[in-house]
Amino acid sequence: MSQRQLFVTTALPYANGNFHIGHIMEYIQADIWVRFQRMQGNKVDFVGADDTHGAPIMIAAEKAGITPQQFVANIAAGRKPYLDGFHIQFDNWHSTDAPENHELARQIYRDLRDIPESQGGSLIERRTIDQFFDPEKNMFLPDRFIKGECPKCHAHDQYGDNCEVCGAVYAPTDLINPFSALSGAKPELKSSEHFFFKLSDPRCVEFLEKWTQDGKLQAEVANKVKEWFTVRTNPDGTTSEGLGDWDISRDAPYFGIEIPDAPGKYFYVWLDAPVGYLASLKNLLDKRGENYDAYMANPALEQYHFIGKDIVTFHTLFWPAMLHFSGRKTPNNVFVHGFLTVNNGEKMSKSRGTGLDPLKYLSLGMNPEWLRYYLAAKLNNKNEDVDFNADDFMQRVNSDMIGKYVNIASRTSGFIAKKFEGKLASGYENSLQEMQLLSLFADTLPGIRKAIEARDYSKALRDVMMLTDRANEYVSERAPWDLSKHADKQVELHTVCSFSLVMFKLLTLALKPILPDTAQKVEQFFNIPPLTWADADNLLITPEGEQAANRINPAAMMGGHTINAYQHLMQRVTPEQLEALFEPPAVVEEKVTPGGEEIAPTISIDDFAKVDLRIAEIVNCEAVEGSTKLLRLTLDVGEGKTRNVFSGVASMYKPEDLKGKLTVMVANLAPRKMKFGVSEGMVLAASHADDKTDAGIYVLHPWPGAKPGMRIH
Ligand code: 2FM
Ligand code: ZN
Repeated sequence: MSQRQLFVTTALPYANGNFHIGHIMEYIQADIWVRFQRMQGNKVDFVGADDTHGAPIMIAAEKAGITPQQFVANIAAGRKPYLDGFHIQFDNWHSTDAPENHELARQIYRDLRDIPESQGGSLIERRTIDQFFDPEKNMFLPDRFIKGECPKCHAHDQYGDNCEVCGAVYAPTDLINPFSALSGAKPELKSSEHFFFKLSDPRCVEFLEKWTQDGKLQAEVANKVKEWFTVRTNPDGTTSEGLGDWDISRDAPYFGIEIPDAPGKYFYVWLDAPVGYLASLKNLLDKRGENYDAYMANPALEQYHFIGKDIVTFHTLFWPAMLHFSGRKTPNNVFVHGFLTVNNGEKMSKSRGTGLDPLKYLSLGMNPEWLRYYLAAKLNNKNEDVDFNADDFMQRVNSDMIGKYVNIASRTSGFIAKKFEGKLASGYENSLQEMQLLSLFADTLPGIRKAIEARDYSKALRDVMMLTDRANEYVSERAPWDLSKHADKQVELHTVCSFSLVMFKLLTLALKPILPDTAQKVEQFFNIPPLTWADADNLLITPEGEQAANRINPAAMMGGHTINAYQHLMQRVTPEQLEALFEPPAVVEEKVTPGGEEIAPTISIDDFAKVDLRIAEIVNCEAVEGSTKLLRLTLDVGEGKTRNVFSGVASMYKPEDLKGKLTVMVANLAPRKMKFGVSEGMVLAASHADDKTDAGIYVLHPWPGAKPGMRIH
């Protein structure tokens, strides 16, 4: 078979949190496949990256008091222990905020925008739409950041896209008394120009119908996708016919990639996220001194994406359409898996990685290959959910992996070392049973290979376990421990133990993509070069033969080969480990929240210096007509003029209490227009975060000696 060239990715995780076990499952699934391809002599480039853009990350960074760039860099810095820990061998890990991605995303967009009329014209369209805008934060609000009362069941505090109480799906504009989850302000409807990718264009529909229905996709995925061509559910719960156009722009402020020739407009995160696959590949190729365009132009290049079932739309509609109509190669396939649940628990959501913490797993000294094996035993090529069950895990690891597979070597290797100076038998006279067993291996291995290629790992492992059972039956039946006691049975002992190890080697070959570390130890034990699938092919002289004995290639028996001392390959998992893994984290003591709120994130002295605090004299103070909360203060900050400032302290002070006193004000706060006039600064006052405590509000007052205009440092 000629060498294939494969480009493989996993979905790019949002850089808003650490990996959870759902991510690790996907990476293990892909890593097994990649290692398997390499064992067949194929060339694979396996890349990942952080998906860095979008409003949620921007807002989380703001909350943490750092830039989004710093925020995603912090997340990226935590990736390695997970990947190394579970033997997940990406060739490159990059970021969608890297220059390669900015360039590629913008170029793909330009190519889609500039399709000549002769080829049907542009697939990008501008349209003005109405959207909720937060007047305090000065930004358009993503659906998840608008809250209000559900229009259907009237539950309070529901998100802008659906109600968590009654499940209704609606548009943010349907919410009763909507408010911004960012500032609490009442959002205003504001129109803005957005950019759309015309997915409803007949060219796209025709192309995608073919692309999704030509048999490459998993049957259940293709069927689901088919529905989208006939009927589609809109955010307000109504349905429309066929594919809808895709809104690919967001207004500033947005952490993302600016759209060419459209200042203040950014690509929606899902436009540039999959481009990150290409950007990570390009970055890898650049590091290796290879040319990206030449690499992509190779007609034999195969491109595959491993993804979860929740992001099928993006990968089977938007992404292939973007690539195809910008004149680029489309993926050969998209491999969709289901969700991972833990102990029959809830699905691992993207944000809440509850249940099984991957780093905790490693820190308990649990072997990463147990998890690789267990997940492989549960994964097939359907997008079915997989449940991690602690009892099942223990059973499969201890009984199957160790009790069956590892056991073959531990029961037989000692005799080779002790009695035969580490040398395997060179002759197999009268060994019909061995020849028959070996032809069973030879006949079963191709099916295992096919199953792994088709990502049906559970089937592959069922077959591996069947062979393992046969091998163990052989050992039990021939009982080397008995043979060793009889001087006249030493040749047989040598044959039985050597042959058991030959079978063990072949089982290791089949398990190697799943258990790379164990396989390496086994290769060392056998003193052989890395196992490849050619070693399985070389078992037979002729694929079909009348007599088992005539089919087997004598070289496959490793006659006379000297092996190294056997070191135990793997410990068993203990109930204590599993118990500790699922033990809920110790109850964290209730956080002390001085004044009813947590201390804000650390800032630098430069951040502090931005706030210009001055001593101000309250030269006048009066009640505000129509307001029970506000007092109007006239302040002198030594500028040769006074300032007008409203302060919500009327519940605590009468105007005459404050008049003539000194206080502290923020002197460089942007003037704010309020109902009763413009406020030109802010007076500092202390209060409890929860005003229901009735703790009051207290204006700050400097020690004697301070003069109006003095700066507070
Ligand atoms: O769903 C997610 O977690 C996305 N960050 C996946 C992006 S996959 C690709 F398009 F980048
Ligand atoms: Zn509701």
